[in-house]
Amino acid sequence: MSIPDDQFLSVNLPHTNIELPYHNFDNSEYQFISTYRKRFQLPEPRKGRRVFLDFAGAMMACEVFVNGRKVGENEGGFTPFSFDITDMLKDNAENVVQVRLDSTERPDIPPYGFVVDYLTFGGIYREVNLRYVEPCHIERVFVRSQQVLTEPRLEADVFVVNQGGVPDALSVRAVLLDRSGAQLARAEGSVLVQAGETKTVTVDFGRLPAAQLWSLKNPVLYHVQFTLMNSAGELDAEGTRFGFREAEFRKDGGFYLNGERVKLRGLNRHQTYAYIGAAAPARLQRKDAEVVKYELGCNIVRTSHYPQSTHFLDRCDEIGLLVFEEIPGWQHIGDTDWQGISLRDVQVMIERDCNHPAIIMWGVRINESQDNEAFYRATNALAHQLDPSRPTGGVRYFQNSQFLEDVFTFNDFSNSVQEPQNIPHLVTEFNGHMYPTKTWDQEERLIEHALRHARIQDKQMGMANVVGAIGWCAFDYNTHREFGSGDRICYHGVMDMFRLPKYAAYFYESQIDPEDKIVLRAATVWSMGDRSGGGNDPLVIFSNCEEVELYIGDNLFGRFKPDRVQFPNLKYAPFQIAGIQLWMTWGQKVTDLRVVGFINGAAVAEQRISAHGIPHALVLEPDDVELQADGADMTRLVFRIVDCYGNRLPYAIQPVQFEIDGPADLVGENPFALVGGQAAMYVRAQSEPGAVTIRATTARLDPVSVTIHTIKT
Ligand code: GAL
Repeated sequence: MSIPDDQFLSVNLPHTNIELPYHNFDNSEYQFISTYRKRFQLPEPRKGRRVFLDFAGAMMACEVFVNGRKVGENEGGFTPFSFDITDMLKDNAENVVQVRLDSTERPDIPPYGFVVDYLTFGGIYREVNLRYVEPCHIERVFVRSQQVLTEPRLEADVFVVNQGGVPDALSVRAVLLDRSGAQLARAEGSVLVQAGETKTVTVDFGRLPAAQLWSLKNPVLYHVQFTLMNSAGELDAEGTRFGFREAEFRKDGGFYLNGERVKLRGLNRHQTYAYIGAAAPARLQRKDAEVVKYELGCNIVRTSHYPQSTHFLDRCDEIGLLVFEEIPGWQHIGDTDWQGISLRDVQVMIERDCNHPAIIMWGVRINESQDNEAFYRATNALAHQLDPSRPTGGVRYFQNSQFLEDVFTFNDFSNSVQEPQNIPHLVTEFNGHMYPTKTWDQEERLIEHALRHARIQDKQMGMANVVGAIGWCAFDYNTHREFGSGDRICYHGVMDMFRLPKYAAYFYESQIDPEDKIVLRAATVWSMGDRSGGGNDPLVIFSNCEEVELYIGDNLFGRFKPDRVQFPNLKYAPFQIAGIQLWMTWGQKVTDLRVVGFINGAAVAEQRISAHGIPHALVLEPDDVELQADGADMTRLVFRIVDCYGNRLPYAIQPVQFEIDGPADLVGENPFALVGGQAAMYVRAQSEPGAVTIRATTARLDPVSVTIHTIKT
């Protein structure tokens, strides 16, 4: 309290304790202790209610004080925590919350204790809220659908706590609502809760008329609204979304969603963003789910290696993207206290996320750790007790480890997996450090990187007993000096840290059903001398078209089918077209490339690549043109230099300079020297609404500008 307010920076949550360049910084830069202070009047009178302060996440350990008195502490940066601050609050006067946040890499807290291949960053990087409740209130709810394919049933556990001084006879009313808000069914329960006790009331809706299923193509969500009452009236209300779905890993090695076998094809996601570390607001979190599903064609994502934002998970529910969520950690297991924190992570992760239909499995082993029977028996037992409806997995990198989970989840970097016997087997990582690749690498490497992903996905598609494969990884990420390319990035993503694609992203995208999106991506910069020996032979194209026609200049080179010899199992095999060297190689004249994609004999897509190579335009593309004027909302602003057909020119590395005018700030490096012909920054809204214009300039090209509006809702 001794530090005057005017020495504090004014910040909004989510907050990173330091904004960083996108690479070439040291993790010591975010490792410090910071103090957050907030002064506020209670927004409404307490009227006998309890007031909680809920933290969605703060990295990495904190002590919380209200009006100078300590209310509690928390260790662990990836799971939420909460304090009852009622007794410290003042009515009709100013209250002060102060958080002492330790963002150092504490060896006593997972994932630390040894080297770790990711950064944790610092700050109160998720939201914090005040919550008012009656002394008797609902702590949380767990909704479970059953027999969804035959006779759908629904029941819910309602966890009720009595913080009052006397026993109370409570009843719970639950209402099932569809998307339009129409009431479909009701259920009730009652319980006597002694003072200081927490009790579970299970309400049973019984058999329901046909429920629409939550599926990947049509992820229908329902809502259950709970009301807690006593004889005097309503005490609390709580609601949750959920979906009717049956997700099963079977002994035949398959994963079945609603009785239908689904081969899982996915990527791992770190929650790292350029400049802001992990402190991405809801909009960016939600957008990541969309990128993984709609730009990368995945049906599953693994939240490597910790519980991630609920905004991300909410969006996975809404769009139909399966999730394998796991506890924080990386190879190292600490002492019993450390394991205690880890067990609490298991508990809080499941309590927080059990109503997400997208989540199909809990990861209860520290990623790639050694066996530890007592610890892992405990994590598995806890997960099964808290959520009997979902299986556990535990990610390992050696085949002969002790198998205590339900699903064998294996990181397979040597592509050594043999047909497993009688256990569902999911490959949870492959590629990664075996072939780091940058967006501006030579095209041969970018192609090989993409084909490595294609080969493994092809192989797993052909292995009946393998549930699926989740590649390492979706996006490049910042890391410690012991890993990565020396600039503190692991270039393991199929996209870069800005979520911009490498060719490997095009492979994943090409697996999308053409009914949803037609994909046609020639993996080439179409130059004479980028590849060793020159030319563009073979030309690789990632596409879900049935055939492609190639035109070199005005001349038809030929019509081709996908390479089903090398890729017999993929639904949409890459095209590998040889023979181009006769037409376009070292010492020949160079002309443009035109690729036309065909489905059912009809031309459905076209891509042109200029042989001219010289920058044609600077492009500025915000993901959103409207932001909330709340001081925290952000959108990505992509900039790239393109040829006359709009293709990125990967070797354009010139600086781009930005100016912003209006109530928003640019988060990023300005000027920015392009990486691989493209990069991105974020635009962060201030608290006042208005029009924001961003103008970008670079040498020898026309300046460009975009306008974004920030609004108050
Ligand atoms: C794995 C690890 C990942 C990442 C990856 C790089 O061993 O689980 O976190 O480090 O290697 O390929």
